[in-house]
Amino acid sequence: MRPLLLHLDHFGSFRDPVTVDFSDTDYFALVGPTGAGKSTIIDAVCFALYGTVPRWGREGAVAHALAPSVAAGKVAMVFDSDGRRYGVVRAMVRDAKGAVRTKEARLDELDPAAPLEQAFEAVVKPLAEGEGVTPEAQRVTGLEYRFFTQCVVLPQGRFAEFLHAAPRERQDLLVQLLDADVYELIRQRAAREEDSARQEASFARDQLAKLSGASEEAERELAERMEALRRLSDAIGADLDLLRAREGDIRRAEQERAAVAERQAVLARLAMPEAVPTLASARRAAAEAVETLAREVATLEADEHEAFEALAALGDRGAPRAELAALDARERLAADAARTRAEAEAAVAGLAGLAAAAETAEQAAGAAEEGRERLRDAHAAAHLVHRLAVGEPCPVCHHPVAELPLHRSPADMRTADRALAQAREQAQRARAAHAKAETSASLLARQAEGLESQLAALPAPGDRAELEARLAEIAKADAVAGEARAAVRAARGRLQRARDHAGQVEHQTASAWQALESARDRLLVSGGRLDPVQEESSGDAPPPLVRDDLHRAWEKLLAWRDRAAEAARAALAARERQLAEARDRLAADRRRLAERLAEHGVVPPRDASPDQLGAAVAGALARAESDLDRLREERRRAADLEQRVAMKEHEAKVAHELALRLRANAFERWLCAEALAVLVATASETLRELSDGQYELALADRTGDIEVIDHAEAGLRRSARTLSGGETFQAALALALALSGAVAKSLDSIFLDEGFGTLDPATLDTVATTLERLAAGQDRMIGLVTHVPALAERVPVRFEVSRDGKGSHVRKSGIAL
Ligand SMILES: Nc1ncnc2c1ncn2[C@@H]1O[C@H](COP(=O)(O)OP(=O)(O)O)[C@@H](O)[C@H]1O
Ligand SMILES: [Mg+2]
Repeated sequence: MRPLLLHLDHFGSFRDPVTVDFSDTDYFALVGPTGAGKSTIIDAVCFALYGTVPRWGREGAVAHALAPSVAAGKVAMVFDSDGRRYGVVRAMVRDAKGAVRTKEARLDELDPAAPLEQAFEAVVKPLAEGEGVTPEAQRVTGLEYRFFTQCVVLPQGRFAEFLHAAPRERQDLLVQLLDADVYELIRQRAAREEDSARQEASFARDQLAKLSGASEEAERELAERMEALRRLSDAIGADLDLLRAREGDIRRAEQERAAVAERQAVLARLAMPEAVPTLASARRAAAEAVETLAREVATLEADEHEAFEALAALGDRGAPRAELAALDARERLAADAARTRAEAEAAVAGLAGLAAAAETAEQAAGAAEEGRERLRDAHAAAHLVHRLAVGEPCPVCHHPVAELPLHRSPADMRTADRALAQAREQAQRARAAHAKAETSASLLARQAEGLESQLAALPAPGDRAELEARLAEIAKADAVAGEARAAVRAARGRLQRARDHAGQVEHQTASAWQALESARDRLLVSGGRLDPVQEESSGDAPPPLVRDDLHRAWEKLLAWRDRAAEAARAALAARERQLAEARDRLAADRRRLAERLAEHGVVPPRDASPDQLGAAVAGALARAESDLDRLREERRRAADLEQRVAMKEHEAKVAHELALRLRANAFERWLCAEALAVLVATASETLRELSDGQYELALADRTGDIEVIDHAEAGLRRSARTLSGGETFQAALALALALSGAVAKSLDSIFLDEGFGTLDPATLDTVATTLERLAAGQDRMIGLVTHVPALAERVPVRFEVSRDGKGSHVRKSGIAL
């Protein structure tokens, strides 16, 4: 780690923002009076990286970063480490309760090519933020905070920590400085690699064991077998053709046997239809029946004709029927006329009585009228009596009334009115009855006259008996003609049925002929497949058809059939023999071939066809070829596996050796012990110079503590803790410089905060010389904090730190020398 730019803003005693540029110097000093803020600058370097500062004690306490009156502050640093550039920033704030917390923390990798003043803007890769910044800074610097403060920044008053550290602590630091823990990791890795190499070797050996059959001899045997099979495959073509020819023979023999069997079956099926023997007589009987019936129909038809002639001769029955109807009508008219005349005469006779009754009723009505008038007068007189006075004139006769007359009260007027109305109504009814009788009598008289004149107009009537006799004769002739027609119809029906039957018999006969023909045709066809030589020699073709007698024709054919069946039986036996011979030949040839195949380990299925036999050989050949290919592949794999086993076993051995060497940190301890020996030897040399030859350093054999050899005391050893303050600083400085220069070349800066005040001028001179040599000799930054002017003056670059009421300030002062 080498700081280039350090920026402070309200950090510790610094108030105004200030940026300290370390980029163009390898050796500088921070100078100024006590309390100016020199240590604060060293603190800022530490704080920027780890977020804490040695003098605060407790790690992680940021409260001290801000002065009590300050509300917010910031530290930022640009630094190089291991060839890369980084920027780290930490900003703090004080909250309302006065507690200080980190507001922002970040660590970025920066572009080393960018100008320093813009370094923070040239971020190549953000690395961490917040809590992650400290562990990342530790990774980047390669040092934990506790070791950073022992070998990079040696804080004021604590420079002897490494010198006085316990051996274990020193070892830890060296492990970190030398990255020695990598050897433990290597050992673990080697152990794992050994394990996996052994496993792989074992796996490969197992695989190899499975391939034990893949020998050179096996390969040679397989190749020979393949060659033999190939020769067999080439050679069996002719044998297979022979087998195929044999099979062809068998198929033909089978077909011929089937043909003979078929002919036998056709012959066996041949049978005469049941009706054939009686068919001829049935045909004759049917023809005779038709003839007889035809004659009968002719006779009956002649009878029918005669009956209808007779009927026609009697004429139409319409005329006598009309004459009879006219006779009936005339008699009904005469009866009507006579009855009407009698009614008219009776009506005239009744008229005189009705006229007398009407007269009587008129008279009764007149009498009733008169009676009523009288009653009315009686009522008027009775009424006047009351107004008469004696001596006064009578209103009726105008004579003076002498005496008042005595009147009885007259009868009721309303009764008289009713009697008059009744009498008048009766008279009216009697008159109406007379008038009606008169009208009716004259009407009847006119009707009688009309009917009588109609009757007189009719023609003269015929003779009823004669007419009825004529009609009866016609009816009789009609019945005779009807019977004759029915007889003809019945006879025609019988004739038709006889003809139908004859037709059926004809049809049966035709079918029987047809059956015979087709049976013969079948025989001809089935016979066509027979051996023609044999057929001709026996002269036994179906007999020719003679179409005169069906029954005889059938009998001739059946007789021929019996002979033919005998010949077919003999032919079948011959074919069976041929077939058996052909099969025997095939079986023998096939057996011979199968034996040959078996000699080559090819076992085809029983009764295999020639194609199957060929396929069996081809299959065996293909299998042998693929077996050989597989075997060759296995042998290649076996060779690879052998090589792999050897390689993995070697790897395991190497890993085992390595792990053994690095076992239980032995190597790490050895490395650290060597480093410590070199460190102590180098530091011892520096200390001898610084102490003007009085002191050297050495490691205590038993405890591992660092001891001093005091040459002023006869070279006796004592603990380093017994050194005075100034001597302790010299020893610590010698160790720090050795650590930085000789052991850990990666430590490219060292900051020493004070301690020089304890040195006498001569020693100070030696220290200054030593530092100058160290600064000049290597690419390493050395920063001193001192208020000792004699030393400060000898450092080429000085940062003068001062403090006033506004806090601390830094000023880079001119380069000395
Ligand atoms: N956290 C802090 N806040 C404010 N002032 C501080 C803080 N730490 C130290 N100081 C003061 O800052 C001044 C500078 O201290 P320091 O850097 O140690 O001085 P020196 O120049 O002697 O090394 C001192 O007066 C010290 O008391
Ligand atoms: Mg100080």
